[in-house]
Amino acid sequence: MTMANSSFTVVQITDMHYFADSNGTLFDVNTAASLDRVIASINASRVEPEFILATGDLVHDEGAPAYERLARDLDALSAPIYGLAGNHDMAGAVSGRYNGRLTFPFRVQHRAWQFFLLNTQIDGEVGGRLSAQQLGDLNKALAAHPGQHTIVCLHHQPVKIGSHWLDGIGLENPNELFTVIGRFTNVRAVIWGHIHQEWDEIRAGVRLLGSPSTCAQFLPKQEHFALDTKPPGWRWLRLFDDGTLETEVVWVD
Ligand SMILES: [Fe+2]
Repeated sequence: MTMANSSFTVVQITDMHYFADSNGTLFDVNTAASLDRVIASINASRVEPEFILATGDLVHDEGAPAYERLARDLDALSAPIYGLAGNHDMAGAVSGRYNGRLTFPFRVQHRAWQFFLLNTQIDGEVGGRLSAQQLGDLNKALAAHPGQHTIVCLHHQPVKIGSHWLDGIGLENPNELFTVIGRFTNVRAVIWGHIHQEWDEIRAGVRLLGSPSTCAQFLPKQEHFALDTKPPGWRWLRLFDDGTLETEVVWVD
């Protein structure tokens, strides 16, 4: 008898840059209206996510009311939302629970998979860093759950992406992250936001995935800041019991 290799799906949304005021814009994009298009796209797709991973910059330099509004607007997605902090998030606000569905857990387990949601925020800085505490917690948790296929989620990119200005504000200590990951054989992917563009490579058997924002995008391979004309985007990941994964970015045209 062969065992079915069954699967489930999760969705990543990132860099929503939400405002408490529904007229708030980032680079002339109304961030609430563009998230609304992303939500409609997710609902219209055949993807039925078990939960949503929201990988930072949930709000744009705003406090609890913006998170409340974001969590309310996400009611249109009938799945739990698990968030982590980006450079624009309010350190004191990325904890607790908003609208009963947006929470900020460190670890999420579903079937044969586990997800770690790391905090790379440095107060007052655009770039990010993993503290010794975060790296230690990740190491400990990976050691405690060696049988779970693993996805590590964070805001700042742990790779150089060929854009000088973005490479200077990524994760300051990627080697420390990859050293921890390299001690284990069950990490399947690392996913992040921050770069407002798509990234997809495999390094030492680990899939490294960056995803576009739900609002404005940055033009790849640039020396200095430049906007792209690409539409809002989101990513689905289909995760199989045997540890394989399928993933794709959906652009909302
Ligand atoms: Fe962002």
